[in-house]
Amino acid sequence: MRHLLSVTDLTPDAAVALLDDAERFQQALLGREVRKLPTLRGRTVMTVFYENSTRTRVSFEVAGKWLSADVVNVSASSSSVQKGESLRDTALTLHAAGADALIIRHPASGAAHRIAAWLDDAAAGAATPAVINAGDGTHEHPTQALLDALTIRQRLGGIEGRRVLIVGDILHSRVARSNAFLLALLGAEVVLVAPRTLLPVGVADWPVTVVDSLDAELPGADAVLMLRVQAERMNGGFFPSAREYAVRYGLSERRLGLLDESAVVLHPGPMLRGMEIAAAVADSPQAAILAQVTNGVHVRMAVLFNVLVGTEAALT
Ligand code: CP
Repeated sequence: MRHLLSVTDLTPDAAVALLDDAERFQQALLGREVRKLPTLRGRTVMTVFYENSTRTRVSFEVAGKWLSADVVNVSASSSSVQKGESLRDTALTLHAAGADALIIRHPASGAAHRIAAWLDDAAAGAATPAVINAGDGTHEHPTQALLDALTIRQRLGGIEGRRVLIVGDILHSRVARSNAFLLALLGAEVVLVAPRTLLPVGVADWPVTVVDSLDAELPGADAVLMLRVQAERMNGGFFPSAREYAVRYGLSERRLGLLDESAVVLHPGPMLRGMEIAAAVADSPQAAILAQVTNGVHVRMAVLFNVLVGTEAALT
């Protein structure tokens, strides 16, 4: 696997192989006092974040360190980006400084793809860093979808044939797009639950069904993925209002009662408790929100392993 830019680059076999590798890393580290494998010793991994992050940045750093890579964190706010350096020049500079993998988060959809193309063009046959998309604008967040798929697989015993609701601000959510395509690829029935104002143009081409009422969908759902409302992408206002959103799309305790007891509740974080999800629901045994975070480390170990050690055979 050369880069990981989009879940649509994955075959079902490649996606399952990544989940299997993540579980192998999880098992290998289970109960260990020293969580360190020599797999990526001598490799240099750089995280380059132009947007804020807690889970993704930290878990990539932990994943790299547990695999013995040297991990360098580049924050756009304290880098020469602030002096006007372009994205292309930043990427080429980090390549020249010795990066074997660049993990990119950027507010522009397509940024990770552009960086991969610039690096590959500049290479003229020489080795260039693998690029991993850690979230590009409203487009994709492939490692989030992989960790969500792993969490669903572990909680439910499988993904194929499971009915998964993705609820809320689909329009601004790269998590929603990556999950919809990956879970459908793995055989799940994916239902988007959202007001029309928070659906993207082109959603008719997604492998999903779309509804606007949550209550009717909860009985019979196997998993519910609640989304973050991305106020920072809404230019100061959105419809419905925050209050109406909470009433119509928030996962309240009453709504949790409509779910089967075996159904799993997910949220990519950060959560807006009381709006997207009630605090009691987020902290309930049915919620797998912290398991998602833990799985995120193992999924990112698997992705780093595959881009730095794996073969082209893993991708279409
Ligand atoms: N889920 C997710 O991407 O969280 P962060 O923004 O904290 O990385």
